[in-house]
Amino acid sequence: MSMRDKVTHAFEASFDRLPLILVRAPGRVNLIGEHTDYNDGFVLPLAIDRAAWIALQPRTDHRVLVHALDFGESDDFDLDDLTQKPGSWANYVRGVAWALQQHGYATNGWEGVMAGDVPVGAGLSSSAALELAVARAFGAVAGWPWDAPRMAVVGQYAENKWVGMNCGIMDQMISAVGVAGHAMLIDCRSLATTPVPLPPGIAVVVLDTATRRGLVDSAYNERRAQCEAAARHLGVAALRDVGVAQLAAAQPDLDAVTYRRARHVVTENERVLLACDAMRAADAVTLGRLLDASHASLRDQFQVSGRELDAIVEIAAAHPGCLGARMTGAGFGGCALALVRAESIQGFVESTVAAYTTRTGLTPRVHVCAATNGAEIVAR
Ligand code: GLA
Repeated sequence: MSMRDKVTHAFEASFDRLPLILVRAPGRVNLIGEHTDYNDGFVLPLAIDRAAWIALQPRTDHRVLVHALDFGESDDFDLDDLTQKPGSWANYVRGVAWALQQHGYATNGWEGVMAGDVPVGAGLSSSAALELAVARAFGAVAGWPWDAPRMAVVGQYAENKWVGMNCGIMDQMISAVGVAGHAMLIDCRSLATTPVPLPPGIAVVVLDTATRRGLVDSAYNERRAQCEAAARHLGVAALRDVGVAQLAAAQPDLDAVTYRRARHVVTENERVLLACDAMRAADAVTLGRLLDASHASLRDQFQVSGRELDAIVEIAAAHPGCLGARMTGAGFGGCALALVRAESIQGFVESTVAAYTTRTGLTPRVHVCAATNGAEIVAR
């Protein structure tokens, strides 16, 4: 059953009528531009064909009643008296309501059901998908105009200030602004977006290592702090403002670790722009090489890869149908992605799964992704 049918039927079963409003917001995979968003840099993610869905109808009061099919749990809260629900999916719903209010948006009550098929905790941004779906739901109910980048900022605000995760803007932006068939170049300083077409005949294959790492948050915050320290030392607002030559000139003044972190960010920003050039020229071979270089930099300079991520990337890259592969998302565990020639997908998937399982004893999950639109109201 499609996700659309799943939430529609569940709504019908609860409310004995069809939902008035149906919204979806996608998860994402980042083609290239990792750990650059919080340095005001460039990213190139795509919204994937896995999403959070909500079927709903407005209420006349200020309550939100929502049932999450995936968790078999309901939440019921008062928009005039928002409280925390730590550790629960419901905290994202409440957090977005709060963040909308903080940004001056009217929030009215609604009731409905939600479900999603973005794997949770895999680094495919199930939480950003949920945040943007909830924002779309509130927007549809209250009738204010949808401003996609602004809604991404609201979603990030909920994540940073309500949930307490210090993420950058990438995940919410791509869930808000995605365009089918395209990756999106996002300038994380200006929030300008440019759709870039995916090369023809190439599939983006997400390889989930089946590992989930604790300590990701603390390592993430540590990397952020190191990048900010490097920018301060270089006298710039963010590492976005530094070129490779300028960084090289400053190397003697930076400690070795800070230099390596900055080196990753500065070169990764360059790779994103080169990747866009390659895609516009339909040059998948160059794009693949840039992915390989990104992985090496994340592994050796930024040091956010891990044993399983390195294993799956190495195995994937060795397949003749693979043009390039790298870890994607925050790192340590979760997913890698590979660029694979369309005609080689089946053989690639079979041999990568087999080799990874033999090497690690883990069974990876594989998603061949299509690039979809960002958060939207879906016609019934
Ligand atoms: C996580 C964060 C993003 C971004 C990536 C690394 O996914 O949520 O904002 O920083 O890590 O590129």
